[in-house]
Amino acid sequence: MDDDRRITGLSEVPTDGTLLFTFRDGFDLGEAILTKLDDGSVVAFRNYCQHWTDVRLDKGSGALVRNGDIICQKHGATFGQETGYCDFGPCEGATLDTVDVEVSGDAVYLADDSLDFEHLGPSGEHDLSSGSRIDFTGT
Ligand code: FES
Repeated sequence: MDDDRRITGLSEVPTDGTLLFTFRDGFDLGEAILTKLDDGSVVAFRNYCQHWTDVRLDKGSGALVRNGDIICQKHGATFGQETGYCDFGPCEGATLDTVDVEVSGDAVYLADDSLDFEHLGPSGEHDLSSGSRIDFTGT
């Protein structure tokens, strides 16, 4: 794989949380989250809830992952860590948008040819107003 598409080392991707990265989609920046499954494979999803798409699942320090579910801290929707399918919450039946990634050797690469890897961490372009809404964790 092309070094420009290397996101991070495989060992950096948590199984009990997520790792945030920023990609470029044409002129726009977007965010995605990586998470490692029990079998060692890695999946990625775009970093927004299917209920309110201005709400980020990972605000920069990892999304909440519990019992194989990624949890939106705004209203508690749960998304299967492997599939992104929401089986509980206000967007039940919806599925997180996937981003193609690939593990090669000891690293994870962005495999979606329409996107370019930018950097680890947040894009800095998110709507700060969504962060000011109170969620059920009080954060
Ligand atoms: S914004 Fe995610 S569950 Fe409502």
